[in-house]
Amino acid sequence: MSIKLLAITTLLVCLAMTKSLLPTFAIKTVTATTANSATNSAKADLRLLLAGRGVGLEGKEEVIGCLSTLRRARAEGEENGFNEYVDELLELVDARRGGFTKLFSRAPLALNVPSFRVNLLLLRRVMELTDTSVEVAARRNTLAIILSQLKTTKGGVAGLLREAERRTRNAVSMEEMISRTPEGLETPKYKVVERFEGEGWEIREYNDYALCSTRNVEGFSGFQTLAGYIFGKNVENRTMAMTTPVFMSPDKMSFVMPSDYWGDEAKLKNEAPTPLATSDVEKEAVGKKLVAALWFGGVSTKKISERRKAELQNFLDGCGGFGVGDGDGDDAFLVASYNDPFTAPWKRRNEILANVQRKK
Ligand SMILES: *[C@@H]1O[C@H](CO)[C@@H](O)[C@H](O)[C@H]1NC(C)=O
Repeated sequence: MSIKLLAITTLLVCLAMTKSLLPTFAIKTVTATTANSATNSAKADLRLLLAGRGVGLEGKEEVIGCLSTLRRARAEGEENGFNEYVDELLELVDARRGGFTKLFSRAPLALNVPSFRVNLLLLRRVMELTDTSVEVAARRNTLAIILSQLKTTKGGVAGLLREAERRTRNAVSMEEMISRTPEGLETPKYKVVERFEGEGWEIREYNDYALCSTRNVEGFSGFQTLAGYIFGKNVENRTMAMTTPVFMSPDKMSFVMPSDYWGDEAKLKNEAPTPLATSDVEKEAVGKKLVAALWFGGVSTKKISERRKAELQNFLDGCGGFGVGDGDGDDAFLVASYNDPFTAPWKRRNEILANVQRKK
């Protein structure tokens, strides 16, 4: 499904908003205000977002739309007040942690929770379940994503919490991960050779597939370069279908090409759309290979994937049967992200992949 469509919708909402005469939400003035003076209005935004069903729907949509737009622009490097604004929200979420939360979590969830205070507690619990990270960039992202879910989740923040609890109750199984894989998108085919379910990793044998890649790995701009190529910014102006996952290595980001171009290098070279000379996109065939895959949920940041990488390396060292293949160093480990940037952390499927060889 369409990251592109979502992006356009968000943009439209924000455009419409700048023209409207609706009440001023703090987020609308974020670029104009200093962080300190916006505290009360940030609180008002949060109060609105957490209010029950049927309250201020339009306002909620505006705040959420702007939050997404700001977050995206921030990821592209724009200094736009997103960080300061979300830090204020985080401060509210983090205030008065502890005892009361514990006490509350034992009580059955009320269906229609009325007060801001209670809603704030629920939000805190969602954050705690979702993200144990103390890394501030990750927490900002997580909070922004969680708040964005309030537009579509039935039952507001209580509904979110129920869902997060259900999804995080047990160690995440591969079966759960499969259910988090976006439907209707092509993804490289593989066969599981050996699974270490308890440790959360497996050995896969991948079939041929093909990639388009860029060496531009600066967050969102690399993503946009590849999305541009897939959605028609190529010599032939041809649009292709979106696929999953997105692969990241320290010096390369890749999207998967549609299956038409898998296992046929000549076809990939001659028939798949030609990248614009200026775009820094390359087409690339990938042959059959043996891969170790460690899976995890949540928002995958650099730090988190580094930790997961080390974990997979340990498991591989411990199991004895497989060694990390040579690759070219950088390509030995990849991070695969299967979901669009708006997916709730507890519905995400991420993996660390390593090319491996059987030890003789
Ligand atoms: C692709 O689009 C550009 C800009 O709209 C146009 O100049 C060019 O002729 C198109 N190329 C093809 C092959 O249709």
